[in-house]
Amino acid sequence: MKFFVDTADIGAIRDLHQLGVVDGVTTNPSLVAKSGRDFKEVVAEIAAMVDGPVSAETVALDADGMLAEGRELAKIGDNIAIKVPLTWDGLKACKTLTDEGRMVNVTLCFSANQALLAAKAGATFISPFLGRLDDINLDGMELIQDIRTIYDNYGFETEILAASIRTVNHMKEAALAGADVATAPPGVIHKMAEHPLTDKGLEGFLADWKKTGQSIL
Ligand code: G3P
Repeated sequence: MKFFVDTADIGAIRDLHQLGVVDGVTTNPSLVAKSGRDFKEVVAEIAAMVDGPVSAETVALDADGMLAEGRELAKIGDNIAIKVPLTWDGLKACKTLTDEGRMVNVTLCFSANQALLAAKAGATFISPFLGRLDDINLDGMELIQDIRTIYDNYGFETEILAASIRTVNHMKEAALAGADVATAPPGVIHKMAEHPLTDKGLEGFLADWKKTGQSIL
């Protein structure tokens, strides 16, 4: 499973990039607002740092507007994936942008039927929002499983990009469900390395090492 980082925070991306765990980055208007940065400027910085796809979201509601914005964003770099919402106009824009050879991430997906339409429209990525389904007592992971089955049944090449990930369990379950990509906030990716038994074990080893009175260097 590929790891994308869901943030517009350059420092956080750099930190994870140095560890080699960043296969791409996703942003959305809320994350850009949170960064307080100029949208195109921050996306250009991210796209220059990371080799993989960097999702930049359009904000127009009509297909023509999305196409104009998408083409403008695509000028930033070859690794820009244009993000459009899963609306009828978003699907139209997806089809045209895909035909032009651009990567498209269809976002705000909450049903298997929406994912099926996005694949038919040629989406590079489909972004089902797990956490937001869980928020309203639905099962976000079941959606990933359904999309996986449907895409595999028909050989759709659209990649399932598990989004709205809130917990480390979401990461594990998305991997088990066969998501191609998971995009998570930096904090969730950091937490994946944590385990109380690791901390406890390390504490014990260091205490015993101290008793030997030795040093490695
Ligand atoms: O990738 C989409 C993501 O940013 C949405 O996450 O936590 O706002 O539902 P959240």
